[in-house]
This record gives sequence, structure tokens and C-alpha cells, in this order.
Amino acid sequence: MKTILVTGSNGQLGLSLKEIATNHPQFKFIFTNKDSLDISNSLNVVAFFEKNNIDYCINCAAYTNVDKAETQQEVAHKINVIGVKNIAKSCNHHNTTLIHISTDFVFDGNKKTPYTEEDTPNPQSVYGKTKLLGEKEVEKNCKKHYIIRTSWLYSQHGSNFMKTMLQLAKTKKEIRVVEDQIGTPTYALDLANAILHIINSTKNEFGVYHYSNQGEASWYDFAKAIFKEKKLKIKTEPIKTSQYPTLVKRPKNSVLNKNKIKENFSISIFAWQDSLKQVVKNQHS
Ligand SMILES: NC(=O)c1ccc[n+]([C@@H]2O[C@H](COP(=O)([O-])OP(=O)(O)OC[C@H]3O[C@@H](n4cnc5c(N)ncnc54)[C@H](OP(=O)(O)O)[C@@H]3O)[C@@H](O)[C@H]2O)c1
Repeated sequence: MKTILVTGSNGQLGLSLKEIATNHPQFKFIFTNKDSLDISNSLNVVAFFEKNNIDYCINCAAYTNVDKAETQQEVAHKINVIGVKNIAKSCNHHNTTLIHISTDFVFDGNKKTPYTEEDTPNPQSVYGKTKLLGEKEVEKNCKKHYIIRTSWLYSQHGSNFMKTMLQLAKTKKEIRVVEDQIGTPTYALDLANAILHIINSTKNEFGVYHYSNQGEASWYDFAKAIFKEKKLKIKTEPIKTSQYPTLVKRPKNSVLNKNKIKENFSISIFAWQDSLKQVVKNQHS
């Protein structure tokens, strides 16, 4: 039986993988978190890989607070670069296939059409820069790797845009949401299924891939759709990015082109609206 290690498994993607693990009895899953396997601690990582026989490692561990990363550069670097390097080296040493998750934030967002894997990254934030350096550590240190860039991840777990909107709707009569940043919401469970589909395919078509749900939306469109699905009557006003200043400038265009992953792995991807229906149905609060 092949063994899959999931790091950072208390996060959104890790918990989504946990949800579907029982659908894949052909694998033994080992779920670790920051306490049981701190990826930034090289001795910890080396010892873990020595002790356990790992065939696949899905690295869900990351520093993901985009704004905080601007003032916590060292911490973000330690996790998103050094931590990833530690994992990549151990994976290579033990002939483990590494599935590493990256982000649309490696791009500057100035392109007018969806980003392909061939487009040149140009990160504009500390978070994006550390994630790109992490990708380079994977490419440099681990032969058998997949780097999957995703965007606008949400689920019933952790903190994300959908949960923030639903929380705000409890106390506010009106919400103003940015309409001039375009991307694609990605249901973490869909990404988790896609990752296991790739592992199951045993195709070994290693490299960089883009994955998000199908279609595109602004944050305003996404918020409206969330309220509609939840049947919440709340006034939603579209605003410009300039009216909602954040520490980090978000990419104007975050839409990812998914042709490569669809063609190489025969993956079919749900429209973001359909996946949203699913997750809202399962959301109890
Ligand atoms: N969220 C998004 O919108 C988005 C968009 C594009 C790409 N991504 C990428 O997708 C991946 C999964 O994101 P996510 O939303 O599931 O993130 P998440 O919910 O923030 O989960 C990340 C997990 O990693 C853990 N972690 C942090 N430092 C660690 C360390 N040194 N060792 C082990 N675990 C550590 C965190 O624990 P603590 O919480 O205790 O620190 C957390 O449980 C990440 O690579 C992220 O960069 C996310």
C-alpha cells in the first residue's frame, strides 16, 4: 500500500484532503500539523522521512497571511522557502513524489488573459515572492515534483473570503466589495480531489500546473453569489480597489489557464458557481 504524507493538515486544503481520504482506501494517509512535523525544522523533516516510508508528500503547509507577511518577512521565508526546501530535499532523497501547492500571487496580475504555466512570474508581495522562491526550491531539489498553483481558495474550514462574508452578513446591513480584481474562486475540496486524481493517474508528467475552478468573477460577484446561495438579503455595493486600501496590492487579474492539467490528466473541473452551491449547502453557520 502506498503512503501519502499530508503536511500542514490543519489548514483548509489539509482538512479537505482529510475529508476525502476514506474515499481512497488504496492509500495509507499520514496527516501532520505544525506540532507533529514543523517543515521549517530540517532535523525534524529528515528524521520524519527516515522513520516513515513515504511515497507521496502533499505539502499543504505554508505561511498564508498575505498582509502580515509584509512585516513578518523572516517567518514567511522560513516556512515558504526554507521549509519547502527541507521537504523537497527529503522527498528527493527517499524517491518520494512531491505535490507542492503554490499561488496566483506569483504573477503581477497585469496580463489581460488567463495566466498559463509559461507566463513569467513577477510577484508583487512578500508572500508572492516567498512562494515563488519555494517553487524554485522544489524544482532545484526534487526530481519527482508537481507544483500546483491555485487561487482564491475557500471551504468550510479555516478562514477565507466566503466565511468572512457570511460573518459580516450577521452584523452589517450593507457590504462594499471590490469589483475590479478578477480571479476564480477555488473550492478546496475540488483541489483536494484533483490532487488525488493526479496521484492515482501514476502518469509522472511532472512540472508546474494551474488549477482553479472554471470561469471568472470579481470579489463582488463572488460575494453576491455567496449571499444568493445562502438566501441572505444584504445590500452589496461594488467598489474600486482604491476605495479599499490593503497593505498588499492584490493582482488585478488572477485567472489561471487550466488547459495543461485538464489535458495531461483528463481532469474535468466544476464551474465556480456549481462548487459554491455545494459548499454553501454544507456550511452550517
Ligand atoms: N488560501 C488561499 O486563498 C490560497 C490561494 C492560492 C494558493 N494557496 C496555497 O494553497 C496552500 C494551502 O492553503 P490553505 O488555504 O490550506 O492554507 P492554510 O489554511 O493557511 O493552511 C496552512 C497550514 O500550514 C500550517 N503551517 C504553517 N507553518 C507550518 C510549519 N512550519 N510546518 C507545518 N505546518 C505549518 C498552518 O498552521 P498554523 O495555522 O497553525 O500556522 C496551517 O495549518 C498553501 O500553499 C497556499 O499558499 C492558498
